[in-house]
Amino acid sequence: MTSIIKDILERESYSKEEILRLLKCEGEERTLLFTKSAEIKEKYIGRKVWFRGLIEFSNICGKDCLYCGIRKGNKDLHRYNLSDDEILEAARFAYINRYGSIALQSGELESPFVTDRIENLLHRIKVMSNGELGITLSVGEQEPDVYRRWFEAGAHRYLLRVESTNKELYSKIHPNDDKHSFTRRLECLKILQDTGYQTGTGVMIGLPFQTTDDLADDLLFMREFDIDMCGMGPYIEHADTPLIKYSGELMPLRQRFDLTLKMIAVIRLMMKDINIVAATALQAIDPIGREKAVKIGANIVMPNITPGKYRDSYKLYDNKPCTDDSAEDCQSCLEARISLADAEIIYGEWGDSAHYNTRRKKV
Ligand code: 5AD
Ligand code: FES
Repeated sequence: MTSIIKDILERESYSKEEILRLLKCEGEERTLLFTKSAEIKEKYIGRKVWFRGLIEFSNICGKDCLYCGIRKGNKDLHRYNLSDDEILEAARFAYINRYGSIALQSGELESPFVTDRIENLLHRIKVMSNGELGITLSVGEQEPDVYRRWFEAGAHRYLLRVESTNKELYSKIHPNDDKHSFTRRLECLKILQDTGYQTGTGVMIGLPFQTTDDLADDLLFMREFDIDMCGMGPYIEHADTPLIKYSGELMPLRQRFDLTLKMIAVIRLMMKDINIVAATALQAIDPIGREKAVKIGANIVMPNITPGKYRDSYKLYDNKPCTDDSAEDCQSCLEARISLADAEIIYGEWGDSAHYNTRRKKV
């Protein structure tokens, strides 16, 4: 049996059947998969990890995704919005501590006020850091002109998870209205890429109604779309969301965790030089979940640098880790953790995806 897996792992690219075979492997085969993905990471990236200091600057959201704890319909939540100075302060913390980059994330809002505000913040962060801090944005679907203005103001990476590339599944986990359109999500991804951003996407793993077949299609989509960055994590129920009613039908958390690791390993093998995030949600299931992801293929970790008093309110899912910690706690904790994973944190560098540079040269 293991010879089939060995055979597949030697190939340069995989068919859908081969991807499915890899996602389903267990025991010795699973070890072979993880050994190979670790080897490829070491060859193309090295045993390295780059930080993106994560600033969750507001949990106010105009959308109502059926899985998400900060959805508009959740009334049991204290809503917050950091002041510009608080955001600047968090960015300064990242800069002083030589994190190469920050990631600005919030609930999704589209308005001229939000556009201007973020544009202004980008300018201020660039000035504060002498142009040295790299900036990733993750603030959802926006108009092409908005994406362009933010790019020109200094954001150079954008994360927009597609959540699932199966249109039917997408419509089951979102309300069926114009605000939650699968087509627009794909259009936005394309516009981001065309605007010049290093573009990242990803999916949740273990969603209700999701099959392994869907996940294989998700991986093929990412290769086809030629993404630069990937962020995938296990789906974790949130008690105050509509999808909670399917809790009894989900695969156990452990299995979701394991499948996420396999997805990370397989995408590392399929796209050797992209940036892959070790998602925080992994740590909600396993205390050393992120380290396990780093070992088998991930090279990006996002330490939370949101001011402590707001963290508890940015709960996308239950059991979110580190909500009681400060930015300093997260840093020292992660330093110890990453060295346990036999990897080294690279300070003072952007840590761009090598894939992006190669892709741009081809254009
Ligand atoms: N479980 C896991 N991940 C979630 N996200 C939102 N809600 C959940 C949940 N219940 C993820 C989505 C989103 C990202 C910011 O957080 O993939 O894109
Ligand atoms: Fe906020 Fe989905 S609930 S973007």
